[in-house]
Amino acid sequence: MLLTDEAPARTRAIDPAFRRDIIEGLSRSPKATPPIWFYDRRGSELFEAITDLPEYYPTRTETALLKAHGADLAAAIGEGRAVVEFGAGSARKTPHLLRAIQPAAYVPIDISGDFLRASSADLAQAFPDLPVLPLVGDFNGPLELPKAVEGLPRLGFFPGSTIGNMEPDAAVDLLRAMRRLLGREAMLLIGMDRIKDRARLVSAYDDAAGVTAAFNLNLVERINRELEGDLPVDGFAHRAVWNDEKARIEMHLEAVRPLHFHVAGQCFRMAPGETIHTESSHKYGARDERLLLRAGGWEPVREWTDAEGLFTLVLAEAG
Ligand code: AVJ
Repeated sequence: MLLTDEAPARTRAIDPAFRRDIIEGLSRSPKATPPIWFYDRRGSELFEAITDLPEYYPTRTETALLKAHGADLAAAIGEGRAVVEFGAGSARKTPHLLRAIQPAAYVPIDISGDFLRASSADLAQAFPDLPVLPLVGDFNGPLELPKAVEGLPRLGFFPGSTIGNMEPDAAVDLLRAMRRLLGREAMLLIGMDRIKDRARLVSAYDDAAGVTAAFNLNLVERINRELEGDLPVDGFAHRAVWNDEKARIEMHLEAVRPLHFHVAGQCFRMAPGETIHTESSHKYGARDERLLLRAGGWEPVREWTDAEGLFTLVLAEAG
């Protein structure tokens, strides 16, 4: 369990998991770091700003699907479930779902404790009769659901195409872990981003206002702040590229000149043009989505897609 936002930076000891992931990632060739470390307080705020960008279609498309299909969702899911949201963040989409399906409890899970506490408090206020039971933690690690939801049928909610951050093998492992955690009668409502026109995809990850660049570069600043780093922020450029073979957008931090820097006492060098691969965002075709879910132990039962075919919400049941 990782608690990255518990103390002010002044008094915070180095987070050993962050240090290990960054040192390992920078020692690898090609260099690559896990995207979970984007989400300190500043990173979470920048991500929220991304979701409002004109180029970033996923959030508004998925929210519109939840709003438009409330009655369908209610009919397919039924009342009285415990909704377990993986990576809840600010949980801005959740009220639409909760209003539609009348659940018995809500368990938001997020790695950023600050963010989780704030959004849980807002939700509890908006739904005074709903037990809200936040869980701070990494949903890629072992989790235990609160005692209060024992015996309730569960609905996993995994919106935002967060599954896209995972390589296919890790995505399948996570879906299987969710299946185990949520139990026999469980259902899963998952958002997945569709393969589409390359220019549209690239601009969603390389917006004109530079918010996604700031989000990517915040990792450099976070390493400097928290891991005694001396990376030159102006030595890196934000890159977003479509990898067609792997059907994914990749974000990289590219060295714009020869770089030499330190992290937690270790020395690293980068040649101009060399990159740190900071995130992959996999995209799926309609059949790919269903194949992935089945491989993860979930049988798709319904899906809702916008008219442009940008984004899909899939409802699946434990297979
Ligand atoms: C939150 C992982 C779904 O991949 O689209 C947005 C994160 N990165 N812009 C995504 C992100 C750059 C986002 N996910």
